[in-house]
Amino acid sequence: MKHDKLAAVILAAGKGTRMKSALPKVLHAVAGKPMVTFPVDVARKLGCHPTVLVVGHGAEAVKDELAGSAASFALQAEQLGTGHALLCAREALRDFSGTLLLLCGDVPLLREETLERLITEHRTNQAAVTVLTAELADPFGYGRILREGDQVLGIVEEKDASREQKAIREINTGIYAFEAPFVFEALAGVDCDNAQREYYLTDVLAAARTAGRRVGAAVLEDADEAMGINDRVQLARASAVMRRRINEGLMRTGVTFIDPDQSYIEPQVEVGPDTVIYPGVCLGGDTRIGSGCLIESQVTIRDCRLADNVHIKPGSVLEGSQIGAETAIGPMAHLRPGTVLAGHNKIGNFVETKKAHIGFGSKASHLTYIGDAELGTNVNVGCGTITCNYDGVNKHKTVIEDDVFVGSDTQFVAPVRIGRNSLIGAGSTITKDVPPDALALSRSQQKVVEGWRLRHDPKCKKKD
Ligand code: UD1
Ligand code: CA
Repeated sequence: MKHDKLAAVILAAGKGTRMKSALPKVLHAVAGKPMVTFPVDVARKLGCHPTVLVVGHGAEAVKDELAGSAASFALQAEQLGTGHALLCAREALRDFSGTLLLLCGDVPLLREETLERLITEHRTNQAAVTVLTAELADPFGYGRILREGDQVLGIVEEKDASREQKAIREINTGIYAFEAPFVFEALAGVDCDNAQREYYLTDVLAAARTAGRRVGAAVLEDADEAMGINDRVQLARASAVMRRRINEGLMRTGVTFIDPDQSYIEPQVEVGPDTVIYPGVCLGGDTRIGSGCLIESQVTIRDCRLADNVHIKPGSVLEGSQIGAETAIGPMAHLRPGTVLAGHNKIGNFVETKKAHIGFGSKASHLTYIGDAELGTNVNVGCGTITCNYDGVNKHKTVIEDDVFVGSDTQFVAPVRIGRNSLIGAGSTITKDVPPDALALSRSQQKVVEGWRLRHDPKCKKKD
């Protein structure tokens, strides 16, 4: 092959007026991730080097979002059109010679295989420009592909098109493979003599032909992939397509969805086989779920690790936590960051945990707060137990050793340590350390005054 070097430019300087948003358009999320991260990821997977992102509107926010990626940035201070935008990346590609892939920050659904096909077609034909096109039932608003038989002559924008040209259904997706540095030389000759007074990247096709170079087209099989996002209706549609793709991918690897249209899973999340996912489940961030898990309705999980055979009951929220195997959580439990469950645990309804390491087999079944705590194995925490970890200034730790039985309605005023195999009587406020094997109890003595109500409550006074 003539060129085997590959670089990418991603256009992302436009304002996105129709989003009606303070957030730059390319940072709006598709399936939970800023849309611009999709073309950036696909460029990385294809091995593009360099990948240059052309930024303008909201440049700082876009750069911040992509700070960890391998992309570099070129600034387009004023948005003078797509052709001008690519020219802004010329300096960054000064030393590059090879195939230049042009992607858009607001076209997130393109697949790696599709772009590979575009690149192969471009290289095989030894073309200077290969445009990715699609056949649409309603081509309104897009640039139309002008052909003479198999030959691609150029592209005409909706606003510049004649009646006959508007009837053409093959459209420009706005994605191309170019030969670099040729494309920059061709662009330098493009003017803004058109309806929008913009420098059109699309004029490069005609310029290449004039220069006697080959121009080709690759037609998309699945037109959905070219979906560009201009407003929030399209944003929701693109998310639905992405979601379906993600969930179908998981189904093919052995995950069951009760209703795949109603589970919201970010693309990077991993889920093991024989896990069952109910509607209303949101899985995001750096989350990995084992096999044989059951995730019931309205559960949100972010940045968590779940081992195998974990059961999350409805309405639970898990963040930044690690859950050992054979554990049951919820309904309506809240596991906050730093929760580590060793396995075979039970965290029941209305239990909240935070920075809590809980040993194998330990349980807190109802109405409890465990924060800044370390629990050994086989601890039983009774209903309504609270670790009083915060004194208004500092956080303090509660340590409960193995085999402790905590009676209901207990408060542990931290810092405090409960020795192994001790028992805390229900209703206690524990302020001092408890040695192993002890009974600790801090309730006041019960008083009984016989006949009191009959003497003092008029409603209960004995009638004679
Ligand atoms: C463009 C194409 C059109 C194609 C359509 C596909 C041109 C002249 N037209 O039209 O043929 O059918 O895409 O969606 O190229 N951008 C910049 N700087 C600018 C202008 C645009 O970075 O000065 C970026 C935008 O952020 C966006 C992309 O380029 O990511 C496309 O720009 P947009 O204004 O949406 O182009 P269209 O008019 O839709
Ligand atoms: Ca557009």
